Amino acid sequence: MKVTSIKTLLADPKMLQEVRVSGWVRTFRSNRFISLNDGSTLQNLQCVVDFETLSEDVLKRITTGAALQLEGILVESQGKGQQVEVQVRHLTILGDAHPDRYPIQPKKHTMEFLREQAHLRVRTNTFGAVMRVRSALAFAVHQYFTTHGFFYFHAPIITGADAEGAGEMFRVTTLDPSDPPRTDTGEVDYREDFFGKQTNLTVSGQLEAEAYAMGLGKVYTFGPTFRAENSNTSRHLAEFWMIEPEMAFYDLDANMDLAEDFIQGVVRYVLEHCREDLEFLEKRLLEEEKGRPQAERSDMPLLEKLRFVTDQPFKRVTYTEAIEILRESKPNKKKKFQYPIEAWGADLQSEHERYLVEKHFKCPVILFNYPAQIKAFYMRLNEDGKTVRAMDILFPGIGEIVGGSQREERLEVLRQKMQQMGVDEEELWWYLDLRRFGTAVHSGFGLGFERLVQFVTGMGNIRDVIPFPRTPQNAEF
Ligand code: 4AD
Ligand code: MG
Repeated sequence: MKVTSIKTLLADPKMLQEVRVSGWVRTFRSNRFISLNDGSTLQNLQCVVDFETLSEDVLKRITTGAALQLEGILVESQGKGQQVEVQVRHLTILGDAHPDRYPIQPKKHTMEFLREQAHLRVRTNTFGAVMRVRSALAFAVHQYFTTHGFFYFHAPIITGADAEGAGEMFRVTTLDPSDPPRTDTGEVDYREDFFGKQTNLTVSGQLEAEAYAMGLGKVYTFGPTFRAENSNTSRHLAEFWMIEPEMAFYDLDANMDLAEDFIQGVVRYVLEHCREDLEFLEKRLLEEEKGRPQAERSDMPLLEKLRFVTDQPFKRVTYTEAIEILRESKPNKKKKFQYPIEAWGADLQSEHERYLVEKHFKCPVILFNYPAQIKAFYMRLNEDGKTVRAMDILFPGIGEIVGGSQREERLEVLRQKMQQMGVDEEELWWYLDLRRFGTAVHSGFGLGFERLVQFVTGMGNIRDVIPFPRTPQNAEF
């Protein structure tokens, strides 16, 4: 008899059937009731043992966290809280979890403590729910793109290109760091390296995706991305997953339409397929917020917030309009912003973005047409000569969730921009080739997958939506 998952069993319970289930003990009450979870669902399966038939030794080993295999008969439950239960006929202890040493006991643990137990935290209801939703969202991403004519493209992880031109890269080298070979001028000589040039972990697959869009039409990447930025915030990771669609013949408007439809599509998918986990996360949030002052509480329960995002268009505003709104705003009687926006051309801080989304428009916002000087070199210059066809999508509680643009397709304009911004033409000769041969209008964007998971699950810290978070000074696992 094969092992049935608890999810399958509870979805279509057939009374009096013989079942075999495996899982980890959540609780064991009165030497009789085992609450078993196998990760397939939030729900535990109640399994009833006859303690008179079990030895003292076995009873003692049925502790929280222990792995068991149980065989028995599925019956209607007389107790409250569950419809069915298993009357256990045979019990095998697969793995013990000593109660004095197993850290995940049935009580409330802080998020900080659970981060230190990143290898075990998925056995809690909260992390189980978050990781199941994360998995469903990843599936929804692939489903959305494959049903919309996109090809899944695998961007390299080790690359010579600094796609964002921001210099926030992790170096990859086989050279001896304490004594690297040097050129005559004293520079590290990467020609001696395995890759023969300076290489990094990718900060974005965009430039390579552009190459593939200019042959396959519509592509997307979905892979790990690395940023060596020293940001200790609840929105930044050093290693995160990014989804980057890139489309030939799309202008900025088409790009914005796609981004909006895509986000709404994947959120709708989890609303349909992860209801139980989302309802649990919603309840958890309400509990957590009880102790906070009214002003810090979210104005909508989680599921309502998700439906709100799927059911109405995002507000589209130019950077210039946003600056006007910010100048006239009164976010706080005593003090406006920590960083006041005085001049057109300044970059928006997260406090400004959050004001626009949470206080002013009260819905997701797409900001577009940013000043050229605060955006990356590859963005399409507008006819005004000052702004580029960039777009950022800002979400309530999250801030920037998407960054994208129409790309500069004109060879000479791009070369000029690279020169102005100090991007090496020789390094990116192949990128310029895309403008030399069969160039065309094209666009794309990048969505930080963890920020999306954060939004959907309502988790406050990005470290709690990725299995093993990498942040500055943190790579314990
Ligand atoms: O705005 P970014 O830097 O844009 C790009 O990398 C473009 N090349 C994307 C493209 O057009 N193909 O990053 C895109 C998104 C951000 O909006 C944010 O959601 C996420 O990636 N992101 C991070 N997420 C977690 N931790 C970090 N350190 C992140 N940096 C960016
Ligand atoms: Mg950005």
